[in-house]
Amino acid sequence: MKTLTAKLLYCLLFSLWVSSISYSQKSDLNIEKKIDKVIKNMTLEQKIGQLCLKGTSSRSKGLSEELKNEVRLGLVGAILNLTEPNLVLEIQKIAVEESPTHIPLLFGRDVIHGYKTIFPIPLGLAASWDMELVEKTSKIAANESYSRCINWTYAPMVDIARDARWGRIAESPGEDPLLASRLGVAYIKGFQGNNPSVPGQILACAKHFAAYGAAEGGRDYNTVSISESLLRNVYLKPFEAAAKSGAATFMSSFNDLNGIPASGNRFLLQKILREEWKYDGFVLSDWNSVTEMIPHGYAADEKEAALKSASAGLDMEMTSLSYANHLKTLIAEKKISEKQLDEMVRNILRIKFRAGVFENPYFKDREKFSLLNADALQTARIAASKSCVLLKNENQILPLKNNQKIAIIGPLADAPREQLGTWIFDGNKEDSQTPLKAFQNSFGQDNVFYASGLSHSRSLSENGFASAIAEAKKSDVILFFAGEEAILSGEAHSRANINLPGLQEKLIAELQKTGKPIVLILLAGRPITLGAVLPKVNAVIMAWHPGTMAGPAISDILLGLANPSGKLPVTWPKEVGQIPIYYNHPNTGRPADPTTFVAIQNIPVEAWQSSLGNNSHYLDAGYEPQFPFGFGLSYTTFSYDNLKIGKAILKNNNIEKLNVSAVITNTGNTPGIETVQLYIRDITGSIVRPIRELKDFLQIELKPKESKTVQFSIPVSDLAFYNDKMELKAEPGDFKVWIASHAENGLEGDFKIE
Ligand code: BGC
Repeated sequence: MKTLTAKLLYCLLFSLWVSSISYSQKSDLNIEKKIDKVIKNMTLEQKIGQLCLKGTSSRSKGLSEELKNEVRLGLVGAILNLTEPNLVLEIQKIAVEESPTHIPLLFGRDVIHGYKTIFPIPLGLAASWDMELVEKTSKIAANESYSRCINWTYAPMVDIARDARWGRIAESPGEDPLLASRLGVAYIKGFQGNNPSVPGQILACAKHFAAYGAAEGGRDYNTVSISESLLRNVYLKPFEAAAKSGAATFMSSFNDLNGIPASGNRFLLQKILREEWKYDGFVLSDWNSVTEMIPHGYAADEKEAALKSASAGLDMEMTSLSYANHLKTLIAEKKISEKQLDEMVRNILRIKFRAGVFENPYFKDREKFSLLNADALQTARIAASKSCVLLKNENQILPLKNNQKIAIIGPLADAPREQLGTWIFDGNKEDSQTPLKAFQNSFGQDNVFYASGLSHSRSLSENGFASAIAEAKKSDVILFFAGEEAILSGEAHSRANINLPGLQEKLIAELQKTGKPIVLILLAGRPITLGAVLPKVNAVIMAWHPGTMAGPAISDILLGLANPSGKLPVTWPKEVGQIPIYYNHPNTGRPADPTTFVAIQNIPVEAWQSSLGNNSHYLDAGYEPQFPFGFGLSYTTFSYDNLKIGKAILKNNNIEKLNVSAVITNTGNTPGIETVQLYIRDITGSIVRPIRELKDFLQIELKPKESKTVQFSIPVSDLAFYNDKMELKAEPGDFKVWIASHAENGLEGDFKIE
């Protein structure tokens, strides 16, 4: 009950927050007047200066005289990767006191899943399905960043990812547009709060606009070719939610979309973002993505790149200098008007005013926010344990029993740097608490036997096998910490083969021969194809890259101090050849048929061509994923009963709602949290519709034997989709609805829209 009340309260506060956003945007009239005044006194060079984000490498420490001079002349709008507070304050003073415009700078940094306190990678946190928690982590990240003079983060990344080969799936919210939208909004709310000018809050940036996650073959930066209806019905959804929830900035993506690079894409940046969504923040390019339109083959030179990006509506250029070098000439040649330039500057100044940097350029009260404080570490611990997804638990081997002797093996058991994951520029491995240390603390040194077996995840040396096997033999149960080092996922770190790298599979096979049960704990930036490993282990937990508090969080889960409640935010493939694999796919005219499917080893020799049936499946991998979207076990079990549909025939208007309920019971002996998911299927449409779509979800906490009725109320307008004429409409016809614990099961009902 407590959780349900808390959730309801959260929803109420959330809607108040959304209305306060629109209020603050209305109250911006004042800001517009202030901007008029500022712009009036600016020279062309100074205006162009506001459009420049000067970047140094993520590792650089100093502040060059050249940069100071440019700021002194008013030629810089924002700075990226300046991480020493005294240097930030020094250059801000130059901007405010010495530059002719006195306009303060913004200071950007990739604070993606924590600043010093590192939370699980975004894909991991997505598995918590807990928006309050997500918001809390990003608020802490904002506070810590602000304390170090950062007022702008390049997060959240809201790119839908259907391809686990893509390294950036680690940073993504997963494959589902609804879950991704809610996650993005929660991150933005945590970073910006109700008002980004309040000390401790920072500006958010929804990235990478758009469809970056659809890169061909999962190869980073690659070309994207998708229909407009797919773009709008799936990939743009979380961006629209981000825009409407007040994300201060947007970042354009590296990829081309149907032939036009996103950083010069008028359709995305003008038509959709400004005209349809009425977005009034500013758009930043990605790192050099404006001049990268030259190798793309979309601009002949830097000048044409500047022209194309500026005409498309890209306000600020990250690191490359095409605006700085060419906008003045383009204006003189009347290819860009000064009015256009003023609009770009206005978008940027609007955000600077909203961020409060004119009144508070020097990060006042920053000393009030500390790094790695007790609340931050406790939140990181909860976030990491709520991100864990229990994928297998044969004979309830988990939770562990207190008197068991434990062998801790594997390259990720004591790898403080690796457990932090990708994009942790400011995180320190010295602050990490590893699983090995956590178990030594909770079980005592004498009951824990340790040998890594492999020095790192890619190791090809068997030198450590013998000692790993010897330690395993002393134990009652083996905890094998497997996975990927942090460097194997993230930007430009795609893999064509996503199984356990190095000799990890081989070591597991050797350990199995000891006859001891094996619990596999995966620390990785993406789903890992488990193939032959899965039958060799008795339990599997996906912990993703869990961050600073990986050790205590995983030990909480393994000891049963926390009951796993994570659910997969992505479909988990059996084999890489199944990719792209995602639950909300269309049906085809010949869907896979379990009753006729013949697996490759069962095909008779010289079988007649059509004797196997003609269905959409793989002969070798079949048609099912390893684990479906939304899947995750618990130490308890839940039953779903008594589906009730309010009105089964609904009118197609903005008032009607589909009301559905079910009774969920904890049928086991342990308290547990269940994420109850509501899916629908629109059976026939003017374009083909997905076989299921998530339309809502709710988390409930149940004591043993306790039941709760979960009630969903879905407005008919939420069933609308973009048809082939790009009209957003719900269509009359038959629908199915499921209340389910994952994307492949559930109580099924029918309803109709008239
Ligand atoms: C990435 C962005 C990031 C930017 C700044 C780019 O390479 O694509 O996500 O925000 O660098 O570091």
